[in-house]
Amino acid sequence: MRKNNIRNLKQKIECKKATVGIIGLGYVGFPLALTFAKNGFGVIGIDIDKDRIKKIKKGISYITDVPNTELKNTLKKKKFKVTQDVKSIKKLDAVIICVPTPLGKDRTPDISYIREAVSKVKDNIRKGQNSCSRIDNISGNDKGDTFADIGIDRS
Ligand SMILES: NC(=O)c1ccc[n+]([C@@H]2O[C@H](COP(=O)([O-])OP(=O)(O)OC[C@H]3O[C@@H](n4cnc5c(N)ncnc54)[C@H](O)[C@@H]3O)[C@@H](O)[C@H]2O)c1
Repeated sequence: MRKNNIRNLKQKIECKKATVGIIGLGYVGFPLALTFAKNGFGVIGIDIDKDRIKKIKKGISYITDVPNTELKNTLKKKKFKVTQDVKSIKKLDAVIICVPTPLGKDRTPDISYIREAVSKVKDNIRKGQNSCSRIDNISGNDKGDTFADIGIDRS
């Protein structure tokens, strides 16, 4: 069953029919979402910050690396949608989590944002959906946490 799911996902990626979800539209997630959309994938960006969602919908970028023209041109192609609604996770074929991992005083990353995002994925995942299994190189510190470690049972 899982083999079939992976084969289906591979096919969807190869013919750019896969819908990619980016959770967290900051310095990493926002340009990444645009890159997927510009390359022909359907993208749903999810962020808890309603002002960011509003700005993107209006074609206003809040990241200096992303010019408004680039955002507006991508929005025109109707491949990039943004929302605060985590139920959209059900529509995704692949999910990429780009939420903050701030370092504490002892230089260990705070992974509570990841835990929160993963729990939203867990609550909204659908049968047959694939999820990635490792979260590495968090703020330069390889925690190597797996989805199972932080609460997702992939069986
Ligand atoms: N910024 C960089 O140059 C850089 C470089 C390498 C790695 N990273 C890593 O990439 C990750 C993301 O960093 P960033 O700089 O893009 O962060 P950021 O603070 O710029 O953006 C994070 C976004 O996530 C959103 N968010 C927080 N919790 C959420 C949730 N539960 N659901 C949906 N959205 C949520 C925030 O509203 C924000 O828009 C971090 O782990 C960071 O260490 C960042």
